[in-house]
Amino acid sequence: MIVIDNVVRDGAVADVNSDDPRVRGVRAVVDVIAKSPELDATALQTVGEKGWDGLIVVRSMPIGGSLSIRARDERDVRKIVGWVPDAAALYLFSGPRMTWPLTVQQMQDMVAIRGSTPYAVVTVSDDLVGHFDLTIDGTIARLGRVIVSPALRGQGLPADVVDLAFAQARRLGADAVHLNVIAANVPALRTYWRAGFATTEGDTDRADVIAMERRLSLPCPCPQHDLRFSVSEFIKMACECAEHPTCSLRVAAPKALHCDSVE
Ligand SMILES: CC(C)(COP(=O)(O)OP(=O)(O)OC[C@H]1O[C@@H](n2cnc3c(N)ncnc32)[C@H](O)[C@@H]1OP(=O)(O)O)[C@@H](O)C(=O)NCCC(=O)NCCS
Repeated sequence: MIVIDNVVRDGAVADVNSDDPRVRGVRAVVDVIAKSPELDATALQTVGEKGWDGLIVVRSMPIGGSLSIRARDERDVRKIVGWVPDAAALYLFSGPRMTWPLTVQQMQDMVAIRGSTPYAVVTVSDDLVGHFDLTIDGTIARLGRVIVSPALRGQGLPADVVDLAFAQARRLGADAVHLNVIAANVPALRTYWRAGFATTEGDTDRADVIAMERRLSLPCPCPQHDLRFSVSEFIKMACECAEHPTCSLRVAAPKALHCDSVE
């Protein structure tokens, strides 16, 4: 919890044109709080012997929906190594690429060899709750090493972790996310299906591996709606689908959507 004092200043904070640096500072802080989904706040006005002023009480929201990512550091890696209890769990986590016992060095070598960027998924208090890495190949982001703290499994966190991976992949210019998952890893498979992944051909001939793909939609540009697609993005995607021989939009899309004129 954060408490910020002196935030009313005889009502001057309501004056958008004030050039008092203290008022402008308070207004800037309030803006930051309002834009931070992980923060919830209340302002209280107080009148007493010290005049008319007030305070803001800020609290962080419960875990899930308030997670964010940051660059992974060595302390995170140590924790993640401790989340993998045995060789079987390691195989589900990373396939044959790493060998038991898992070490910090192997985790670090992995990203260096593959050119991946690893991310720590953290709460507002910077507690590590999950991890993933992304490897960008053109407009495809390969998602790997997805893991959630064992203490927090079964609470719906993987959906948030995967959403953060999607958002980061978009920021890096990807329009699709690919991954490989061990077929026996039911919690992982269900997590990915739920997140909109579909099986795809992939680039592996290992029989125990399922390749999956998730196309990334653009968020609706309208701030008032939570639509997954903007209309223009949907039309563009449908026209791309129309090029694919097996796509169900193939027949209807080009004519109905005037694909010839879609850039
Ligand atoms: C994969 C992982 C992130 C999923 O997180 P989680 O918190 O365990 O996932 P959930 O508890 O939400 O389970 C996901 C789904 O699998 C189901 N599930 C979980 N354990 C299961 C089991 N043993 N058998 C069958 N279904 C199971 C859940 O019921 C849930 O189903 P739903 O989507 O229909 O509700 C987590 O298990 C993990 O970190 N595993 C170790 C690392 C790993 O294997 N990573 C995957 C690399 S590809």
